[in-house]
Amino acid sequence: MNILEMKQISKKFSGVYANEAVDLSVKKGEIHALLGENGAGKTTLMNILFGIYSADEGEIFWKGKKVKFYSPKDAIAEGIGMVHQHFSLVNKMTVLDNVILGLRKQGFFLDRKGAKKKLGELAEKYGLSVDPEATISELSVGQQQRVEILKALYRNVELLILDEPTGVLTPQETEQFFDVLRKLKMEGYAVIIITHRMSEIMSISDRVTILRDGKKIIDLVTKETNPTELSNYMIGRQLDYDFEVKETEQKKSALFLQNVTVRKAHKKPVLDEINLEVYKGEILGIAGVDGNGQRELAEVIAGIQKTTKGKITFYGEEIAAKNIKERFARGISYISDDRHQDGLILDMNVEENLILRQYERRPYLKSGIFQKNIIRENAVKTIEKYRIKTSGTSTGDTQVKLMSGGNQQKIVLAREITEHSKLIIASQPTRGLDIGATQFVRQVLMEQRNEGKSVILISADLEEIMQLSDRVAVMFGGKIVGILKKEEAELEKIGLLMGGITKEETN
Ligand SMILES: Nc1ncnc2c1ncn2[C@@H]1O[C@H](COP(=O)(O)OP(=O)(O)O)[C@@H](O)[C@H]1O
Ligand SMILES: [Mg+2]
Repeated sequence: MNILEMKQISKKFSGVYANEAVDLSVKKGEIHALLGENGAGKTTLMNILFGIYSADEGEIFWKGKKVKFYSPKDAIAEGIGMVHQHFSLVNKMTVLDNVILGLRKQGFFLDRKGAKKKLGELAEKYGLSVDPEATISELSVGQQQRVEILKALYRNVELLILDEPTGVLTPQETEQFFDVLRKLKMEGYAVIIITHRMSEIMSISDRVTILRDGKKIIDLVTKETNPTELSNYMIGRQLDYDFEVKETEQKKSALFLQNVTVRKAHKKPVLDEINLEVYKGEILGIAGVDGNGQRELAEVIAGIQKTTKGKITFYGEEIAAKNIKERFARGISYISDDRHQDGLILDMNVEENLILRQYERRPYLKSGIFQKNIIRENAVKTIEKYRIKTSGTSTGDTQVKLMSGGNQQKIVLAREITEHSKLIIASQPTRGLDIGATQFVRQVLMEQRNEGKSVILISADLEEIMQLSDRVAVMFGGKIVGILKKEEAELEKIGLLMGGITKEETN
């Protein structure tokens, strides 16, 4: 029997459908995956179910009864729990207090001891071990996620919704997490898991519902499908995954970091004695759980952060004292992981954003006058070459803020990668992009490598790292804890290093 049925759910935001006549049914004791590209409408659909948004049209049946939830409280009271992409725990409070938060009824004292016992039992039963007296801020992301799940279980939910839960986990943490889900399923819980990773869907789910452009495309039984079929339904067309990977020499050193350290105030260094060589004609992947020094590494090479100590040599020249502009002039390009903060000026148009790095130089500025025609020509050429979709006509006067993430990223790439570039630092270059744009970006990076340039690819997407990199360096706690050649760079090895377990310990 279906424990949940959503029928013909529609929801518009400013006149545009985020969900359009979507059906979803979930059985008791099943793990149901919700798959779709960014913006497909997955989170919206779940927010409607959880009472955060109300649908414009459609009906929800929960255990056979028609329901309408006006807030998450209503949904929880009926037995539906949701763990959001961004957790909603109170950082300064303990695990136990977070779990029982909001449960204290007026006039009653909550039995803290009893609560602790119940929490302990739940944790034990499902393998969600976490110290009830620990403060949330001392916990790892994986542990915080356990607390979120415990909080839902504590409220006796029967359906648990998980919105992209594995994005923040290492492969090993993901495996442990999946074991928890399997136990929940055995106990008869229903689980809806949102993910865009095919391998995860194949390993954890019983059924899959695929959304595209706000519409439900198909329901599939996981055992009867495969990753290629899933991907084709998700994007609605076939993709060519094969890049041309040319033989390049990879002997000549392009960049050399020696004992590079960055320390802020008296805290632990954010970059700790980094020694790293990057060759010509290679893509060096940098893997790691977000926040282990990857961003600082990118910024110290691009010239945004100063080194506290150490040497940076680029084609034989010491550049640690050079600023961003001087480094760009020497061929160091930087694609920032935050295109809205650092990459683009959203209120400016395409033409202007494309020349941000060189507007005060010829040919764009001559004798103190901006060369409007040349600036425009540059934009028209770039729009064509990168197949950038501007609004309406193909002119460059569209404001960048009106464009999709994929098209914005193309502008950053086009501006940063010039014929003078020798080293491209690409930080999370495909994060938030749809598959089409993702493929485009990867293709561009591979072409640069094939031409003999160097690419440093920082990415949280391990499949991307493994697909593109000639070598993979793994960062943990501000250090490079291992460098693997393409042949050695297996998912498991990278995963262990990402968790701070170094080579010697794994052997
Ligand atoms: N609160 C909101 N206001 C306006 N537009 C929204 C809002 N939430 C989602 N959308 C839009 O609805 C569409 C679906 O978004 P979402 O459900 O978050 O997709 P997914 O979770 O599949 O990535 C997107 O185009 C998004 O921009
Ligand atoms: Mg979402």
